Amino acid sequence: MSTNNDEQSLEKIVNLCKRRGFVFPGSDIYGGLAGTYDMGPLGVMLSNNIKASWMKKFVDSRDDMYPLDASIVMNSDVWRASGHVDTFTDPLVEDLKTHKRYRADHLLEEAGVNPLGMSLEQMTEALRKNKVKSPDGNDISDVRSFNMMLATKVGASDESANETYLRPETAQGIFVNFKNIIDAFHPKLPFGIAQIGKAFRNEITPRNFLFRVREFEQMEIEYFVHPDDSDAQFEYWKKEIPEWLASIGLDMNKVVDLEIDKADLAHYSRGTVDFEFIFPFGQKELYGLANRGDYDLVKHSETSGVQLDYTDPQTNERFFPHIIEPSVGLGRVFLALLLSVYKEEKLSEEDTRSYLALPPHMAPYKVAVSPLLKNKPELVERARHIYRALKDALGNVAWDDNGNIGKRYRRQDEIGTPYCVVIDFDTLETDDCVSVRHRDTMEQERVKADNIVGYIQGKME
Ligand code: GAP
Repeated sequence: MSTNNDEQSLEKIVNLCKRRGFVFPGSDIYGGLAGTYDMGPLGVMLSNNIKASWMKKFVDSRDDMYPLDASIVMNSDVWRASGHVDTFTDPLVEDLKTHKRYRADHLLEEAGVNPLGMSLEQMTEALRKNKVKSPDGNDISDVRSFNMMLATKVGASDESANETYLRPETAQGIFVNFKNIIDAFHPKLPFGIAQIGKAFRNEITPRNFLFRVREFEQMEIEYFVHPDDSDAQFEYWKKEIPEWLASIGLDMNKVVDLEIDKADLAHYSRGTVDFEFIFPFGQKELYGLANRGDYDLVKHSETSGVQLDYTDPQTNERFFPHIIEPSVGLGRVFLALLLSVYKEEKLSEEDTRSYLALPPHMAPYKVAVSPLLKNKPELVERARHIYRALKDALGNVAWDDNGNIGKRYRRQDEIGTPYCVVIDFDTLETDDCVSVRHRDTMEQERVKADNIVGYIQGKME
């Protein structure tokens, strides 16, 4: 069995995602739009399972978490206060011949130069010193900074239009609602506000499938703590993140935590640990954990004139809470998960099967139900009955009567369905049992038709 992690494995995942209906390129019939992807039916199911697992662990099972769903379009003052208008930039160079644009830090990394902490001038100097050309072999411009927010206009006419931005992170929606949550629920510190939602970044060079895109979903928590408690809470969240990643099936041998150099910290951060994943294209950020201090609450208080501080109900101490922020992109988890569970198994010289060894609670379909032959009404009727019972109990159950049984197994293997239930003539005539075929071992067993729902439910636990 192999789980290779080279460029080829990314290509295999991209192909599987399109062929089996997980992910399609955005605006496909018009030649696409770089950095955008559409989730197909199985992608929606897998994403929903990832989000549900995140919500269950970090929100629903706790009593100190408040879920939120803030607007994507916000007052532009939010982005001035947050520092995004001035500092949410990437270093850009332009190919002087083709006018294509590239990330200067990426070109330097590819040339073996570490760009961490370099100013724009230092990057230009380093590019010149190392005689770095564009990927097309042409001369490049000096480095300049490029704001990554996607601008939009709100309002009926151009004159009255108020330029703002599609949010580049969900976090700011949480900070501007801090007072609303305090006033409505009177939570005691520490407590968190959690949000899953879309974010937009005008990435200069979107690449590597879902890894760097222009529209993506974030799953963010802003955890508000007493300033004296922030180091301990940071350590607590540092343990929670890998625990969740392991629980959904990520290959933890490929997850590395890395403390970010002071020189490379985001403008709001006092300290950040990135959980990186060893992708086929290199070890890259998957999940970030930042200590934002009181940066955001202070900035929004200053700019809005509304005090976003906290009064301790016991001591009457008044202060700005500090914020610990675990933040992750759904698409990066989706990709890391598929790379972790994609397996190839050589069955004979000419025959290799591929399958997704997803944990059952992550699989898009929990079970597929098939009549052995689709032109035998008595088999179909019994199979439909069992399918309905399983669907009522488990939700995502597939009906699969396409092609011969071997083909059906291979198809379900490729989309990660852990169990296939087949209704055959023995079911009707001999033992009233169905055949249950297991994805990972390919073993089959007979289970009483009346017990099949309980049997599969038991497996889900
Ligand atoms: N609120 C903090 C924040 O947004 P970030 O490190 O810029 O921090 C958080 O982003 C996470 O969002 C990253 O760890 C990554 O998983 C995901 N992410 C960021 N940019 C992305 C992009 N262009 N495409 C896909 N995911 C992205």
